[in-house]
Amino acid sequence: MAERLWDAERVKPVPFSSIRVVMQEAERLAAQGRKVFHMEIGRPDFDTPPHIKQAAIKALNEGMVHYGASLGLPQLTAAIADKLRRENGVSVDPSGGVLVGAGVKYIVYCVMQALVNPGEEVLLPDPCWLDYFACVRLAGGVPVAVPLREENGFQLDPDEVERLITPKTRILVVITPHNPTGTVASKEVLRQLTEVAQRRDILVLSDEIYEKIIYDGAVHHSLASFPGMAERTITVNGFSKAYAMDGWRLGYAAASKALIQPILKVHMSAMSCPNTFIQMGAVAAYQGPQDSVGRMVAEFDRRRKMMLSAMADMPGVKVARPEGSFYLFPNLKAFGMTSMEMAAYLMREAGIASVPGSAFGEWGEGHVRLAYSDTYENLAAGMASLKDALAKLPRQ
Ligand SMILES: Cc1ncc(COP(=O)(O)O)c(C=O)c1O
Repeated sequence: MAERLWDAERVKPVPFSSIRVVMQEAERLAAQGRKVFHMEIGRPDFDTPPHIKQAAIKALNEGMVHYGASLGLPQLTAAIADKLRRENGVSVDPSGGVLVGAGVKYIVYCVMQALVNPGEEVLLPDPCWLDYFACVRLAGGVPVAVPLREENGFQLDPDEVERLITPKTRILVVITPHNPTGTVASKEVLRQLTEVAQRRDILVLSDEIYEKIIYDGAVHHSLASFPGMAERTITVNGFSKAYAMDGWRLGYAAASKALIQPILKVHMSAMSCPNTFIQMGAVAAYQGPQDSVGRMVAEFDRRRKMMLSAMADMPGVKVARPEGSFYLFPNLKAFGMTSMEMAAYLMREAGIASVPGSAFGEWGEGHVRLAYSDTYENLAAGMASLKDALAKLPRQ
């Protein structure tokens, strides 16, 4: 007898993340003794800096083990508001304008639940970190893809954004630096987007989780710092990438109190409050020394340059030079395979675990995402393996 399915209608169109599928396949091959180059994982391979761990351990030892404020500990919301003012030129109220939760992913989920009505549209850059599509769908919303074109350096096109706005459009999502392309949105593109958002009266969710992982002198700009944007921007950021704290699960939304209130309703029902003692680690991350961030970014940059120069030597590979995050998004269309076929081939032939570009949306087809969050030596060996594997394929 066929197994009965209990899935609610809104869950049915949501696929499992294909990154997890790739990770499982990589684990299966590794268990058989195959050498696997892990380029699928979107997290730093570094340890959380010791002073951050110590702050959390101290809080735990001092008995910070009970429920705390729903929005987050006042020490942390104050540290976040202070950081946003100092580094981003964004002004938010530390008591009421910041909401801390279990990672940016969770925050995005709450934002969509709180601000999107069934049938309303959310503009998402395509390709884009796949969980955005799922979070919009789970809210009953309709994701609308805004193509990021390679020939435009994967920048959003403000005219195209405007053309895609309908009376049902609620939110535009901007991610800078971007995942999977690594693109840092230019100030001019952002300025034009702020004009579109104000003219067409929509909200903007600005995901800045990779803001500190930036190279070649590129400059990160926060959308909420542009004139007229404070009231319509939800800035989301967290600790997973810059401080190698992905397992800690801490992220936040910063916005006007009017926008935080509905998000708070969802958050209170979903998790009451973020874990208390780990928030003291996040306070230390923002208020303590920042040299570990600089060291990590310098190492990412070394790997990025090595991989870019290795790929420049691979016929058929076209790769943009990303200015942020820790991903390369090479175009492998010359080999005539779908990105799913290519990712499977690279896994089988070269032991390279990658993520097919199509997992990030229709406009990612023909690409694969390679994360450089493995050691320099492993990545260098992976590049040699990639070169050999691609050399065996016919090119169109
Ligand atoms: C653009 C983007 N936003 C958010 C996240 C998730 O962050 P967190 O670990 O805080 O949930 C990721 C993770 O890969 C990401 O790429």
